[in-house]
Amino acid sequence: MYWTQKHVLVCTASHCAQKGSNDLIGRLRLEVVRKKLDAEILVNNCGTIDLCDIGPNVVIYPDNVILSGVQAKDVSELLAYLRGEGDPPGEVTGFDTPAESNRREIYRAALAAGAFCPPEEFATIAERHGMPSTWVDEQARRGFIARKTNPDTEEPSIVITKKAIDRYRLKQDAQPA
Ligand code: FES
Repeated sequence: MYWTQKHVLVCTASHCAQKGSNDLIGRLRLEVVRKKLDAEILVNNCGTIDLCDIGPNVVIYPDNVILSGVQAKDVSELLAYLRGEGDPPGEVTGFDTPAESNRREIYRAALAAGAFCPPEEFATIAERHGMPSTWVDEQARRGFIARKTNPDTEEPSIVITKKAIDRYRLKQDAQPA
């Protein structure tokens, strides 16, 4: 570890890799060395950060933001941003940015429907927030929701997991399961 001004983590897990993150990190590392910025900017790869649908994702500390949809062609822009000399490439995601707020509202609405949300209701909530059924499936795959049987009705249900509750800081909204 070096005490650099910026620490950049490029997700190279499967979804981001499929969308070009290995090219991105390769080019970024090359340019950091070529421009002699390696004492200023540290670049590492990382595993999934669970924003797979909008990757390739780049986490930047100490800014505590994620840039999404960044490609190798954006490296010059990214370096300028890291040096405080321009706008960031890609979509900026932080706790309160619109995409994250939208996701949080989906989980909040589902929790308001009860500990066991009927799948149709969850799909409707997601759709109302612009998320298709493929997004719902992806949330299940990543462990933000779990498909369970409601013990009272024996109907299939969606349960919002602790992972989602913690990530979106929804504890105050959670119903006891
Ligand atoms: S694969 Fe990169 S965020 Fe999931």
